[in-house]
Amino acid sequence: MDYVIETRALTKKYGEKIAVNQMCAHVKKGDIYGLIGKNGAGKTTLMKLILGLAVPNAGEISLFGSSDLNAGRKKIGSLIEAPALFKNESAFENMKRFAYLSPTTDDEIKRLLDFVGIGNTGNKKVGSFSLGMKQRLGIAIALLGSPELLVLDEPINGLDPAGIKEVRDLIVDLNRKGITFMISSHILDELGKIATTFGIANDGVLEEISAEDLRNNCRSALKIAVDNGAKASATITANFPDAEFTVNDNVIEITSEVNDASVINKALVKSGVAVYEITNEKVEFEDYFIARLGK
Ligand SMILES: Nc1ncnc2c1ncn2[C@@H]1O[C@H](COP(=O)(O)OP(=O)(O)OP(=O)(O)O)[C@@H](O)[C@H]1O
Ligand SMILES: [Mg+2]
Repeated sequence: MDYVIETRALTKKYGEKIAVNQMCAHVKKGDIYGLIGKNGAGKTTLMKLILGLAVPNAGEISLFGSSDLNAGRKKIGSLIEAPALFKNESAFENMKRFAYLSPTTDDEIKRLLDFVGIGNTGNKKVGSFSLGMKQRLGIAIALLGSPELLVLDEPINGLDPAGIKEVRDLIVDLNRKGITFMISSHILDELGKIATTFGIANDGVLEEISAEDLRNNCRSALKIAVDNGAKASATITANFPDAEFTVNDNVIEITSEVNDASVINKALVKSGVAVYEITNEKVEFEDYFIARLGK
């Protein structure tokens, strides 16, 4: 398969520190690739290597299925750390300045500002923008030159819940329009809802997992406390042959998909089992990762 981004054993050292340690990243066309990791995990460094803002010590990068990185980088828009905005100028004037790299008509700039939802800010100076508005402007700047891929370093960092939702919705919207994303965050929850693939960075090492596999690993479990575990177990097996469950001290724990509580409750009661309590326990994303990273 050709990937939009593929890195092979990519390594970057700063002195003795291995910031990126043999990372193998695979971003597919149409992905929202969530790069998750704590402070210092190597997220920004990986992005800088991909963008050509840092030079690797070892390993390889392919962009759009090719080793011609200069050609590939022309199709990438990026927002690494906060963009250096001109505070005393409007969003439009800022865009004009950043457009020098990829000549853009005034109409196209207006369209991009509308597109990210700050087309109505007129002469308002960027210095008085909220953080969310500045992030939107940063994304509009990244969109100059009609990139196929956006690499965004912590675009949600520091936003309030409403701002987080706004930026997340914008990303999903752009993704539907065909743009592939690599987005970093140190908080899994921010990307948990929208990412299609996760790259988990931990002290320079990258581990990848698809959102689908993650969901399967984070499936909720239905816990049912009954008066007679053996009888309940037989009832569940008879009524829901595909159900996967364990029985422990008259508590049944169903971990497979068959977990509509009311249906199972009905079957148990019908067979004469007393049901004391049913709880739905979710294994949260964050817990899953903490367990996975062993911290
Ligand atoms: N220019 C540099 N010079 C020296 N060390 C660096 C440099 N850039 C990064 N590092 C080190 O490399 C490691 C990875 O840093 P990086 O900025 O990639 O992490 P990060 O995952 O982006 O963290 P954060 O969540 O804080 O942004 C850290 O230990 C950092 O101190
Ligand atoms: Mg960083």
